[in-house]
Amino acid sequence: MDIKRYLEEKKGLVDSYLERYFSSKIMPEILHSAMTYSLFAGGKRIRPVFSLISYESLGGDPLRILPQASSLELIHTYSLIHDDLPAMDNDDMRRGRPTNHRVYGEAMAILAGDGLLTEAFHMLTTNEGGLSDKALLRAVRDIAQKAGIYGMVAGQAQDILSENSEPDKDILEFIHSHKTAALITASLRLGPILAESDDNILSLFTAYGNNIGMVFQIVDDILDLTGDPSKTGKSSGSDERKKKLTYPRVYGIERSRQKARELVEEAIELISTLGEGAKPLKEVALYLLKRSS
Ligand code: IPE
Ligand code: IPE
Ligand code: MG
Ligand code: MG
Ligand code: MG
Repeated sequence: MDIKRYLEEKKGLVDSYLERYFSSKIMPEILHSAMTYSLFAGGKRIRPVFSLISYESLGGDPLRILPQASSLELIHTYSLIHDDLPAMDNDDMRRGRPTNHRVYGEAMAILAGDGLLTEAFHMLTTNEGGLSDKALLRAVRDIAQKAGIYGMVAGQAQDILSENSEPDKDILEFIHSHKTAALITASLRLGPILAESDDNILSLFTAYGNNIGMVFQIVDDILDLTGDPSKTGKSSGSDERKKKLTYPRVYGIERSRQKARELVEEAIELISTLGEGAKPLKEVALYLLKRSS
């Protein structure tokens, strides 16, 4: 299969949903403008796409869960705006544009992030596809857990606490599994949760998500050193400047690449029991090792 085309097609569904959703005015206008500046700056939409793939691989129609899948992109975009703030990573470029606070100022950037995070839960509960209340409630709780203090926020806190610290494998594992793998796992669990699959299936997607989420951040760390800013849309060397606890810092680039390959192999093995429906999950896992943006 042509995985690039498959991903583009799914991304197109998310993009049109988001464009429609944000087409009506939000006041004050500057808040609307700050939110949409980052949201429509050209992200890969990989988290919502993971949700659509997971739902489809279980036989569901991805169009049914577009609001739920797309809500993950709002949470992700908020996390990027806040991650770039001077008090955090202090970065100037994101998605190929000056970072939100460079254009709108810190106060509006913080509020744009707050707005996106809160609106994500409003969007998440938009039930256009006739999902059961029970499944939707479970999805809300799962995403809140993995985006918040038991997941991404905890990882971001530890990331900041670990700047300038000695390399430590356990802390590195905590940071990456929380700041990035948690939300990616939530996006992969969304399919089975909304499809009301049994616990065995849910565990498979959870394990696959943990692995793929780790791979995603390991590759992000490597791209910070070796990537082309015209492709990543961010300046290189940001981690080095802030003495971040990253995979290359602890293991070196080659061993980091090796670890990412092993995690992908394991992820593919995990989902092999799903049969033909798991083909895109396999292809996307392999694709993540090769990504340059
Ligand atoms: C960047 O995420 C931040 C990480 C968690 C590694 P993405 O690489 O998905 O960024 P966009 O959404 O495509 O801009
Ligand atoms: C950020 O990790 C993870 C988030 C939850 C935003 P990074 O700080 O490495 O992400 P980039 O490299 O700035 O996109
Ligand atoms: Mg960061
Ligand atoms: Mg950063
Ligand atoms: Mg990074």
